[in-house]
Amino acid sequence: MASNMSGCILAIESSCDESAAAVISADGHVLSNVIHSQIDIHAEFGGVVPEVASRHHIHHVPEVAHEAIVQAGISFQNICCVASTIGPGLIGPLLVGSGYAKGLAISLGCDFLPVHHLEGHLWAACVDRNGQRARAWDGPPFLALIVSGGHTALYDYRGIGDIEILGETRDDAAGEAFDKSAKLMGLGYPGGVRISQLAEHGDANRFDFPIGLRQKNNLEFSFSGLKNAVRLAIEKHVSQKGELDYQLACDIAASLEKRIVDALILKTKNALKQTKRQTLVLGGGVVANRRLRHEMQQLAQKKGIMLKLPQPGFITDNAAMIGLAAHAYYRRGYRGQLSAKAAAWMPLDADRQSHFRVTT
Ligand code: KG4
Ligand code: ZN
Repeated sequence: MASNMSGCILAIESSCDESAAAVISADGHVLSNVIHSQIDIHAEFGGVVPEVASRHHIHHVPEVAHEAIVQAGISFQNICCVASTIGPGLIGPLLVGSGYAKGLAISLGCDFLPVHHLEGHLWAACVDRNGQRARAWDGPPFLALIVSGGHTALYDYRGIGDIEILGETRDDAAGEAFDKSAKLMGLGYPGGVRISQLAEHGDANRFDFPIGLRQKNNLEFSFSGLKNAVRLAIEKHVSQKGELDYQLACDIAASLEKRIVDALILKTKNALKQTKRQTLVLGGGVVANRRLRHEMQQLAQKKGIMLKLPQPGFITDNAAMIGLAAHAYYRRGYRGQLSAKAAAWMPLDADRQSHFRVTT
């Protein structure tokens, strides 16, 4: 294994509406993790506007990078590699972040490393609550479940650059099911957090919402039926009572959350059976959901497997996760090519050999 780590990694994340930067030390500790969210700017549009996001990233990416350096207590001269998200995500925002990272790497005379956003979400699980690298865990092989606003999929992560997709959603992602249902309920954007807050006060068994592809013994997901079921439940109630009352909103939220979690547990169980992996890693914004975390912990306990969950601060989009993934590649001898192109669509199991050269 080639380590050759002579300094820190500065990581940049800008795939959606967060401008983020983080510094990871040579031994894999998170020294700083700075996020500038544009959430308030996009909330008034009911979703992220790509062009608006790009323009804000142009201002904020250099700012958060500088702030990450200051908070880490280092200088730009201590950086041996600038890493950035290269895809998937919104192309404008990706180009801003990766263009900045490449330019900075050239000006510092250091390495550049392009990181897959979803791989970042998975490596986020390798740090403990204090940002210290967990010593008991050195990575692959593991079964990976990604549950974010744009992706829901199971992967067999056999090793760096050796990932097989086992099944993904045929329609909406789990986060999308939360967000679209929240919009129907008038809860605003992004709705996942709001739904999970209401769900704490609701009856999860009041509505028997469907679980997509339940009968199939495969590893695919389907969540698009949920928003229609939520719409029908709202319409029925509003036609009878005139408006959506608080308790009903809580019951819908709890029933919706239960169904999404049930589907994720069911398919994860199938994948564990199929792959026989002993470690399960979860990544993506929906992993912030308390019910999902609790039920996954119970599943892991029952099956006697190791479960790796990202800690608060590392769950939704951040740059520490990008830096941690970069660190995993870098210490194995991977160096990035400046010719690596940002792309909106980039499957996690795609061949990315052209993004790298490997040192020995
Ligand atoms: O990974 P992420 O930050 O961005 C993407 O790459 O998509 O995930 C954002 C998603 C959104 O759909 C958001 O509603 C959802 O994560 N989310 C939650 C919770 N917190 C964030 N969903 C359910 N429960 C939560 N507590
Ligand atoms: Zn994400």
